[in-house]
Amino acid sequence: MSQSKRVLVTGAAGMLGSQVLLSAPDGVQVIGTDLAEAAGVQEVGVDLADERQVGELFERVGELSGVIHTAAYTAVDLAEEQEELALRVNGTACGVIAAAAKAAGVPQVIVGTDFVFDGESGEAYREDDEPNPISAYGRTKLAGERAALEVYPEATRIVRTQWLYGPRGKHFPGTMLSLAKERDELKVVDDQRGSPTSTLELAPALWDVLELGDQAIYHAACEGDCTWFGLASETLAAAGVQGVKIEPCSTDEFPRPARRPVHSVLDCGRLTQLRGRPLASWQEALRTYLGSE
Ligand SMILES: NC(=O)c1ccc[n+]([C@@H]2O[C@H](COP(=O)([O-])OP(=O)(O)OC[C@H]3O[C@@H](n4cnc5c(N)ncnc54)[C@H](OP(=O)(O)O)[C@@H]3O)[C@@H](O)[C@H]2O)c1
Repeated sequence: MSQSKRVLVTGAAGMLGSQVLLSAPDGVQVIGTDLAEAAGVQEVGVDLADERQVGELFERVGELSGVIHTAAYTAVDLAEEQEELALRVNGTACGVIAAAAKAAGVPQVIVGTDFVFDGESGEAYREDDEPNPISAYGRTKLAGERAALEVYPEATRIVRTQWLYGPRGKHFPGTMLSLAKERDELKVVDDQRGSPTSTLELAPALWDVLELGDQAIYHAACEGDCTWFGLASETLAAAGVQGVKIEPCSTDEFPRPARRPVHSVLDCGRLTQLRGRPLASWQEALRTYLGSE
């Protein structure tokens, strides 16, 4: 992206948004916004589902060249009992931001999720496959995709991703490493497949989609796939943790309020074509992340 561009990044205090700030291309001025204060977040306390607040935000920040929207209600299990709130943040806010981006005449990237799929197909999901969410979180995120595309079809890029982890925030590899300090045996679900994706890999891809992408849906995940058990095993091995036994178990042994897609591997062909290369393999990305800690 060329000199003197200014991009608004929402969810800038979050796991992904914080990395998007750090990965901004040279010469791009980033304005981070979030509810919470954190490094690099200039616009604190702006509720993105509130049309008036978003209108005032866009006025304050002045001329922009793009928006990367990562903010979301991400408590997947709690969303089952708070679907209205989740819908406000994941659905309504996408429409509000799309309207503001449209009024500003700038392209936007909206971050989506594999949870829009039911995980029943057994094959990697392509960008244009029919969604069929099986959780409240998935329904609200799909509502957000649809709101953004309805309001601003001419310049909206949706980037669906999955199984995120990174230097900031709470995530599965971090939880496994903490548990391994307290226990000598861990039981981990071995009947759900996906692609663990590092924010260190995903964030630069979002910048490329903003700069080079078309108004389309992209899938963005690290190459290859595994189960949570596979990810736990690789995490402990790569971190050099010894003496902790990991046992595979079934989803039924760990009942959670929200259903998860069983096989939610994403076909990332469109993004690979755009960038000329796929994201790193999940194992390589995991080792890079662990080395950066
Ligand atoms: N994590 C994953 O595995 C995963 C997988 C697939 C897709 N995604 C998507 O990737 C994106 C980033 O996820 P993440 O894991 O980085 O999430 P995160 O760490 O929870 O960050 C989301 C940020 O959005 C903020 N936010 C919530 N409601 C808001 C509102 N009404 N107005 C303004 N900001 C608000 C949150 O603030 P508070 O913390 O103060 O509420 C938080 O800082 C999301 O769109 C998510 O749906 C994540």
